Amino acid sequence: MASTMPNTAGTILRESRNLQGNTMQPVILKQVGKTYQLDSVAVPALIDINLEIRPDCFTVISGPSGSGKTTLLNVIGCIDKPDQGEVLVAGQATMTMKDDDLSDFRARHLGFIFQNFNLMPVLSSYENIEYPLLLTNMPAAERKKRVMMLLDAVGLADRASNRPGQLSGGQRQRVAIARALATSPKLVLADEPTANLDSFTGAAIIALMRRMQREHHVSFIFSSHDPQVQAEADDAIFIRDGRITHIERDINQKEAVA
Ligand SMILES: Nc1ncnc2c1ncn2[C@@H]1O[C@H](COP(=O)(O)OP(=O)(O)OP(=O)(O)O)[C@@H](O)[C@H]1O
Ligand SMILES: [Mg+2]
Repeated sequence: MASTMPNTAGTILRESRNLQGNTMQPVILKQVGKTYQLDSVAVPALIDINLEIRPDCFTVISGPSGSGKTTLLNVIGCIDKPDQGEVLVAGQATMTMKDDDLSDFRARHLGFIFQNFNLMPVLSSYENIEYPLLLTNMPAAERKKRVMMLLDAVGLADRASNRPGQLSGGQRQRVAIARALATSPKLVLADEPTANLDSFTGAAIIALMRRMQREHHVSFIFSSHDPQVQAEADDAIFIRDGRITHIERDINQKEAVA
């Protein structure tokens, strides 16, 4: 699967990235705090987060259940607004953007991959991948070419008309990866993307995402408990009780040197 990417696919992805003037910028969080209010109880989910996430890297956020991983991804992905602090994504201060601008920003710059795939059950693989492109001005012929290229890139050209219910878990996640990359985002956020997969399928999905990151210079930020994801990461951010405890950079390079 991971070795079937044709050269044309890479060329098209790169071309569209260049057309968008896709310069890579770090994700920066400064003194970010987020507290959920549950009835009368305040639940601090993120406390004084100061962080720089390098572009064009595989970054994993690790920590125990309830430590704030999903909240952190949601804040970076402009799904959740922090109560305080500053968040910079693709050079934009997202905290001060209006809701309409945020939706547009998300659609143009970000891709999302979820633990439970979050595909539309009534749509085929083709239609699920096409869906985010319908929100852009891409002409129909170009859209078709792009969806076919993405299906090919994730090894599912022969499953274009299958609905999610007619696919295996690994195949569903491959559709979700193709959908996340459809609009040529600078940044893909993946919340526990291998949690519902067996370790063999999980390894294939990680390899596919790594290849996409290396070939197309997309930044990937994961939350994950999966040692396979951690083993493949460039940088690891450790979070506990809403606070960053430590950050390890260039994990694989260190291993290579050791
Ligand atoms: N919508 C919400 N309302 C109230 N509290 C919430 C909400 N979402 C998350 N929390 C709380 O915020 C904290 C962080 O939750 P979060 O989902 O970010 O953790 P997590 O590290 O992703 O955990 P897991 O590994 O189980 O997915 C937890 O204490 C959680 O109970
Ligand atoms: Mg979570």
